[in-house]
Amino acid sequence: MLNDRLLQIGAYPFDRLRALLGPVEPAAGLEPIALSLGEPRHDPPDTIGEAILADPALWGRYPPMRGTEDARTAIAAWACRRYRCPETTIDPATDVVPVSGTREALFMAALAAVPERKAGGRPVVLMPNPFYQVYLGAAVAAGAEPVCVPADEASGFLPDYESLGPDILARVALAYFCSPANPQGTIAGLDRLKSLVNLAREHDFVLVSDECYSEIYDRGRPAPPGTIEACRELGGGLEKVAVFNSLSKRSSVPGLRVGFAIGDADFMNAYVRLRDHGGAAPPLPLLAAARALLADESHVAASRELYRAKIDIAEELLDGRLGFYRPPGGFYLWLDVGDGEEAARRLWSEAAVRVLPGSYIARPGADGVDPGRRYIRVALVHDLETAREALTRLAGVL
Ligand SMILES: Cc1ncc(COP(=O)(O)O)c(C=O)c1O
Repeated sequence: MLNDRLLQIGAYPFDRLRALLGPVEPAAGLEPIALSLGEPRHDPPDTIGEAILADPALWGRYPPMRGTEDARTAIAAWACRRYRCPETTIDPATDVVPVSGTREALFMAALAAVPERKAGGRPVVLMPNPFYQVYLGAAVAAGAEPVCVPADEASGFLPDYESLGPDILARVALAYFCSPANPQGTIAGLDRLKSLVNLAREHDFVLVSDECYSEIYDRGRPAPPGTIEACRELGGGLEKVAVFNSLSKRSSVPGLRVGFAIGDADFMNAYVRLRDHGGAAPPLPLLAAARALLADESHVAASRELYRAKIDIAEELLDGRLGFYRPPGGFYLWLDVGDGEEAARRLWSEAAVRVLPGSYIARPGADGVDPGRRYIRVALVHDLETAREALTRLAGVL
């Protein structure tokens, strides 16, 4: 006996990639390079080790689900600094929850937000299409109807939730929104974020704003605006909003598994009640490391520069080809190769380079068109030299 909802989620993107490339021999004589996974490989600052080891007694304590006051205060202070908000914008006691990486936290948000019924029908969870795969799994596990809204070239690579019909909007329990977007790198402006907050309040749903790539953006641009800033500009509190962010991309520590949620105190209460039963709070020594990382911006700036230098290399090798554009945010290239699966196969067999076909993180829309089908996602997570080698091989094959 299994939960048949699992069938609706479909295979995990990286399992599909293994199935696609398993029977294909990688090009002989070349060191394989994986550009498929968004796992930052930049060096994190040394202070992280010191902070983790500073008080071994902390390993003997169960971490509270809301973390420590110190950690919540450090998170709130970082967000207020980053989004130029007065310190009163975020109450560390009620509005902040540290989480064990945002992946499980984004998943659990749907379990906390989706009711049995909404507006007399099955609740809806909105997500962009293509999407971070966890959104779909969460919507389905929560028993909601997933509605994937095109985030394609025609929509400016962001989902236009505002244009959905009133019948759907009435049933929306939660909307996932991602800016800077994975995989396209699009950054939503402040007006767009305000419009989404207003939409959530008007239709009584939770806006889950995934801002994990907020600290990685191209040169010559201001730092991407955030939903907390949008709430402040609208003049109220954080009602109907839950912002998720993570140290994984900001500080290149995906293995630390520390992120955080900031938002509506009522939602956070329900969320913590759920997490008390099935969540995993970050261990206290890891929260100490997170505090040290949040207090330092120099390593973040250095990492941002390194991503920019890799995008420079991509521009030098790919400009004018494969629909290349400099991603405004994040560290992915979203390349229009005509047939993403075919390109991924060729890159592996002819260049030993692993990339993700866009269709593995998208679904066919109502018109039957899969907005990811023509694309590959290329994660620029390695050092400069490896990135140049991989991109040179990619440019040679495609
Ligand atoms: C859009 C997006 N959100 C969330 C995450 C989860 O990151 P973490 O669990 O490391 O915080 C990722 C990781 O790739 C991501 O791409």
